[in-house]
Amino acid sequence: MHQNETHADDLDRAAAMLGSARRVAVMTGAGISAESGLATFRGAGGLWEGHAVEDVATPEAFRRDPALVWRFYNARRASLATVDPNPGHRALVALEERMGEDGFTLITQNVDGLHHAAGSRTVLELHGSLRRVRCSGCEITEERGAEPLPELPRCSACDAILRPDVVWFHEALPEDVWQKAEAAARSCQCFVVVGTSAIVYPAAGLIYVAREHGAKVIEINITATEASGAVDVSLRGPSGTILPELIKRMGT
Ligand code: OAD
Repeated sequence: MHQNETHADDLDRAAAMLGSARRVAVMTGAGISAESGLATFRGAGGLWEGHAVEDVATPEAFRRDPALVWRFYNARRASLATVDPNPGHRALVALEERMGEDGFTLITQNVDGLHHAAGSRTVLELHGSLRRVRCSGCEITEERGAEPLPELPRCSACDAILRPDVVWFHEALPEDVWQKAEAAARSCQCFVVVGTSAIVYPAAGLIYVAREHGAKVIEINITATEASGAVDVSLRGPSGTILPELIKRMGT
């Protein structure tokens, strides 16, 4: 069979799985924002290249050298001001509208806020948000968008150092968000995993939760991942092209 035919076949199979599901859950990773111009984490040119995770993305690093950690996150916040959602994000808005509130859950590991910017109404942000800060003293959180922050921003209420409201390595995920994500993975008939290397837990575990509870699993990625062996359909290609095509093939 010609390669394109195989691809078309897989797209149709995936569209049929989505179309017959009463509930759909989608989990995204950095790959969905790659076509917006944001670097992913791993691999050549990735955000972790030239940085040890332990130096910039752990609570220990923040205690040791908060200015270094803030330089890393301020650079990432600055890049947010220059990017827009891409057709992959927008296709998930269309899927949410189609499935309705009770039939759709969007789970993301991304901290870039691009799903909200695209118009997705409900987004479970497993790893927090770059657009929010949290006081390391009084724990108050504040939305700061992509505005520039000082090198060591301080809390206006208690003067302690603020931190990005993201989840670092060695930290727990926000419990309420995690519970909702796990419930969605357990109760969906189709789980779509988009643009993630599927190696960071507990997020990656949702793929297996969904599978064990009977969901069909569709993977959209430009390469094979840790999870590829456990999925029903692998759609290889950029999510900005594949996702709109997939939704189109669901028909009306
Ligand atoms: P990674 O950088 O580990 O993986 C990005 C994935 O996206 C890879 O599998 C790429 O092949 C794929 N990809 C790249 N471009 C793509 C495109 N245009 N279309 C589809 N797929 C594409 O990023 P994550 O899996 O999101 O956590 O990383 C997971 C977590 O590890 C992050 O949330 C972050 C981290 O290090 C924390 O910081 C806690």
